[in-house]
Amino acid sequence: MDTVIPAPGAVSGATPATAPGAHPVNATVAPLFQPFAFGRHILANRVVMAPMTRNKSPGGVPGEDVVAYYRRRVRGGVGLLITEGTYVNHPAANGYPQVPAFHGEAALAGWKRVVDAVHEAGGRIIPQLWHVGVARRAGVEPDPAVPGYGPSAIVDNGVEVVRAMTQADIDAVIAAFAQAAADAERIGFDGAELHGAHGYLIDDFFWEKTNQRTDAYGGSLENRVRFAVEVVRAVRAAVSPDFPIVFRFSQWKGGDYGAKITQTPEELGRILTPLAEAGVDVFHVSTRRYWEPAFDGSPDTLAAWTKRLTGKPVIAVGSVGLDDAFKVGMFANRDAFEVKPTDVDQAAQALARGDFDLLGVGRVLLSDPDWAIKVRDGRVDQVIPFDRASLDRLVV
Ligand SMILES: Cc1cc2nc3c(=O)[nH]c(=O)nc-3n(C[C@H](O)[C@H](O)[C@H](O)COP(=O)(O)O)c2cc1C
Repeated sequence: MDTVIPAPGAVSGATPATAPGAHPVNATVAPLFQPFAFGRHILANRVVMAPMTRNKSPGGVPGEDVVAYYRRRVRGGVGLLITEGTYVNHPAANGYPQVPAFHGEAALAGWKRVVDAVHEAGGRIIPQLWHVGVARRAGVEPDPAVPGYGPSAIVDNGVEVVRAMTQADIDAVIAAFAQAAADAERIGFDGAELHGAHGYLIDDFFWEKTNQRTDAYGGSLENRVRFAVEVVRAVRAAVSPDFPIVFRFSQWKGGDYGAKITQTPEELGRILTPLAEAGVDVFHVSTRRYWEPAFDGSPDTLAAWTKRLTGKPVIAVGSVGLDDAFKVGMFANRDAFEVKPTDVDQAAQALARGDFDLLGVGRVLLSDPDWAIKVRDGRVDQVIPFDRASLDRLVV
């Protein structure tokens, strides 16, 4: 029986990972290997696998290799897995070939096999629920005739490549997110993450550049947050109170690393407070370098500001364990590259200081599924670098 702890957070009186019987933990990273209460469950440690898209689900259905891929990361010591982005039930939700759907009997049965395997291996897992918004173009599956959908239309060379969403479209997408979250709980996931980052649909509403609406969803910051708040409310109503809702957001966009949806901590609060009130349990703060100051005049990171402004647990992410940042260009540019592993002592200290609660780890878990165990044991020198081959394989 799992312990029921409604609010996520540090586990008081829980057995530390250094207790007799547990594996000894390298002292400099010990804060990362403390348990953490997450909904109905206790995560074994603070290491979270960041969501990373794979194009390995033909017809939108995750198969046995996807099962093996996630199970492998549990065996490697990750406390919580966030799946690759998986698209909700709306005709324009997907933007890429062979990424997994999160609707329909076959896709959900595939996901259930993933969940069961992860649980059997002793891990915890949540799906990243996704609508790609303005990133979609006609020609992509499932129905190539469907263009992109976003807050505002985008016209390219006289062709409308992204359609402005009507109120009916907005309502349909909100309902699709809610259904996906309900399905996530029904098939046994341990929570759900909403993808509100990187220039995809929810973030498209946040950002002035992609949201030029003049109705209740555009203009002021309060209006630009409205769509996200309505999604969170609908999701909250569709799942149990102790089913954690994680909300991922970012300043940066795939096509613009310098983009900002908020210029000041005060503006950040005006986005995050209504989201927290609507039912977000954990914020996942996506940055390319987790340690960078978020705003002029303060050394504090976006994760630290988020924690301070909302009082909610926070996942920080960005270049953990690697000496160079995530680049969108690495997908299209075929050049060889190698990114070297680093230690994570600073990240462990930042967590211990209370800047954030959980540590998101992306690329280095592609190249080395045993990263968490090696870090725990003080064997960072044995971590496999992230290189072209590990990206191309998105390895099992
Ligand atoms: C191959 C790949 C696919 C990614 N796909 C997603 C995705 O589906 N959803 C998402 O929110 N972020 C995605 N990201 C971003 C990662 O979640 C993470 O934020 C980024 O890689 C920075 O973390 P890192 O420096 O530890 O790699 C992806 C990153 C990579 C490398």
